[in-house]
Amino acid sequence: MKERLQKIREDAIAKIKASKNPEALNDVRVSILGKKGELTALLKSMKEVVPEERPAFGQLVNDTRAEIERVMEDAKKQMEQMLLEMRLKTEVIDVTLPAKKNCMGHRHPNTIALEEVERIFIGMGYEVIEGPEVEYDLYNFEKLNIPANHPAKDEQDTFYINKEIVLRTQTSPVQARTMEKGKLPIRMISPGRVFRSDEVDATHSPSFHQVEGLVIDKNITFADLKGTLEEFAKELFGEDTKTKFRPHHFPFTEPSAEVDVSCFKCGGKGCRFCKGSGWIEILGCGMVHPHVLEMCGIDPEEYTGFAFGMGLERIALLKYEIDDMRLLYENDIRFLRQF
Ligand code: DAH
Repeated sequence: MKERLQKIREDAIAKIKASKNPEALNDVRVSILGKKGELTALLKSMKEVVPEERPAFGQLVNDTRAEIERVMEDAKKQMEQMLLEMRLKTEVIDVTLPAKKNCMGHRHPNTIALEEVERIFIGMGYEVIEGPEVEYDLYNFEKLNIPANHPAKDEQDTFYINKEIVLRTQTSPVQARTMEKGKLPIRMISPGRVFRSDEVDATHSPSFHQVEGLVIDKNITFADLKGTLEEFAKELFGEDTKTKFRPHHFPFTEPSAEVDVSCFKCGGKGCRFCKGSGWIEILGCGMVHPHVLEMCGIDPEEYTGFAFGMGLERIALLKYEIDDMRLLYENDIRFLRQF
C-alpha cells in the first residue's frame, strides 16, 4: 500500500509539472483527487491495511493529498503569472496612437441664452416655474385682462384647439396660474415655448420661446421694476449697458413700458446693428394691473407687483449677433458648432 501511495504521489507531481495549461492541470486534479481519482480509490481500499496501521496510513494519505494540492496550487500560480507576462508582452499599447475622439454634443444657443437669463434671476432670488403649452383661453387671455373682443385673440394670431383651449400665445398665463395658487410673496420667472399663427421669416416663427417674470409683494413699486431690469440688462449685456423705459400698452399691466438697452455693439452711437438708433428693444413690462390681481385672488390694496416678458430668441440673436431667426431652428451642425 505504501508503495502504491508513493507511486501515486510521484506520478501526480510529474503530471503536474508536465501540465502546460490550466485545463491539463484540472485533468490531473480530477484523475487523482476527484471522486473516482486514484488517491480516493486508495482510501477506499483502506480495509486491506491491518487495523493497527490504519490511523498512521490514513494520516499518510492525507499528508500526500495536502502535498499534491500544494504543488498543484503553486503550478497554477506560476501558470497564471506566465500567462499574464505573455499578455503584457503581446498586448502592447501604442501610446502614440491618436485617441478615440469622444463626439460630445453641446447646448443650443437658445439654451445657452436661457440658462444665462435663469442664472441672473435665480441669483436675485427668483424661482423658475413652468406652465402648460396647451392652455385655457381663460388663462391665456381672460385673466390677463384680454377680453373676448380683443384683437390679440384674432384667429390670425392664435392657434385654437377649440373655443376654450389654445396653444398659448405668450408665457404670461403662468402669471395668473402662479397668483391663483395663493402663495405670497411671488418672485418667479417662467420660460417656455409659445405659438402664434405667423409666417416664417427672419424675425418670425409660428413657435418660439419667451421668458416671463413676476414679482408680487407688499410695497412693490415701479422703482423695483426699474432697478431689477437695469441690473438684469447689465448682467446680460455688460456693466456699461444703459436702459430706457418707453411708455407702452399691455392689457395686464398699468403703467406699462417697453425696455430698450443701449447698443452693446456701438455703445449707443448708432450702427448697423441698432439700425442707427443706438438702442435695442429687449422686453415688455409694467406694474401688474389691479384688475388682474383681483381676478387671480390677490387684494390690490394690500399687494402690488411687476411683470415682464421677453422673447428668448431675440436675446440669443442679439447676444450672438445672429441676423436670421431661422438659423436657430434649422439645426445645421455647421451653424450650431459655433457656440
Ligand atoms: N406677453 C407679452 C407679449 O407676448 C410680453 C409681456 C409684456 C409680458 C409685458 C409681461 C409684461 O409680463 O408685463 O408680447
